[in-house]
Amino acid sequence: MFELTDRVAIVTGGARGIGKGICLALAKQGANIAIADILVNEGNETIAEIEKLGRKGLMVETDITVKDQVDQMVKKVMDTFGKIDILVNNAGWDKMEPFMESKPETWEKVIAINYKGVIHFTHAVLEQMIPKSYGKIINISSDAGRVGSMGEAVYSGCKGAIIAFTKTIAREMARYKINVNCVCPGPTPTPLVEEMRAKGGFAEKVFAGMERIIPLRRMGEPEDIAHAVVFLASDEANFITGQTLSVSGGLTMC
Ligand SMILES: NC(=O)c1ccc[n+]([C@@H]2O[C@H](COP(=O)([O-])OP(=O)(O)OC[C@H]3O[C@@H](n4cnc5c(N)ncnc54)[C@H](O)[C@@H]3O)[C@@H](O)[C@H]2O)c1
Repeated sequence: MFELTDRVAIVTGGARGIGKGICLALAKQGANIAIADILVNEGNETIAEIEKLGRKGLMVETDITVKDQVDQMVKKVMDTFGKIDILVNNAGWDKMEPFMESKPETWEKVIAINYKGVIHFTHAVLEQMIPKSYGKIINISSDAGRVGSMGEAVYSGCKGAIIAFTKTIAREMARYKINVNCVCPGPTPTPLVEEMRAKGGFAEKVFAGMERIIPLRRMGEPEDIAHAVVFLASDEANFITGQTLSVSGGLTMC
C-alpha cells in the first residue's frame, strides 16, 4: 500500500517541522526528495536522514516568494532526477496578533510566503507534470482557512485562498490526470508554533487551551499530517481531487 518507489517529490519548507515529517514519510515509502527551503543547515540535516533511509535527497536553497528562485529550483530538480511526480506546498509562516494591531509589512510577508509561494511552485511544477500526464499536488492549508482563527486574520485568508486555488487547479488539471488536494493541519507543535508561544502574550493564550477543545485531546504531530500526505501522493488516491482533508483530532468538522 502507498507504494512510492522511485517517485520524485518536491517538498517546500521541508527543513523542519511538518515539512520534515512529510519528507521522511514520503522517503519511507520509497520516494526521492528535493527540499526547497531558506534554512540550509536544517535542510541538509533532513536530507541526511532521507539518505539514511536509502533514498536520494537534494537540498536547494530557495525563497519561495521569489519566482526566479522557484524556477531555478525546479530546473535543478529536473536536471538531477529528470521528472517531478509529487509537489507538496508546505512552507508557511505566521505572526499571531489581533488584526487591528498588525502592520502592512506583516500582511505582505504573510501573503508572499503563504499564498504567492504556492502559486509560484504550482505553476513551475505543472509545466513539468502536464507533458507527462501524471502528478500529485498536495497543498498544506490549515483549519484556519476553513473556519478562521483568532489572531491569524491575513494568514487565515491565505489558507482559505489555498483551498479555493486547489479546487480550481484540480478542475483545470483533471484532463491531465494530475490530482490536486489540500491537507489542513490543526495545532501541531513545530518550531513555528514554539517560536510564537515563546513570545508569550496573545499567542500563548490561544495555544494554552487548545488541547482541551480538541476532541481527540492532543495536538497534532508532524507524522499525523505526513500520513495524510503520503496517501494523497499515492496511486490509491487516483480518484480523489479538489478535496480538503482536516488532520486536527476532530477540532474542525466541516
Ligand atoms: N504547526 C501548526 O500548528 C500548523 C497548523 C496549521 C497549518 N500549518 C501549516 O503547516 C506548514 C508547516 O508549518 P510548520 O508549523 O511546520 O512551520 P515551521 O516554521 O516549523 O516550518 C516551516 C518551514 O517553511 C520554511 N519557509 C518559511 N518561509 C520560507 C520561504 N520564504 N521560502 C522557503 N521556505 C520557507 C521554513 O524555513 C521552515 O523550514 C505551514 O504551511 C503552516 O502554515 C501549521
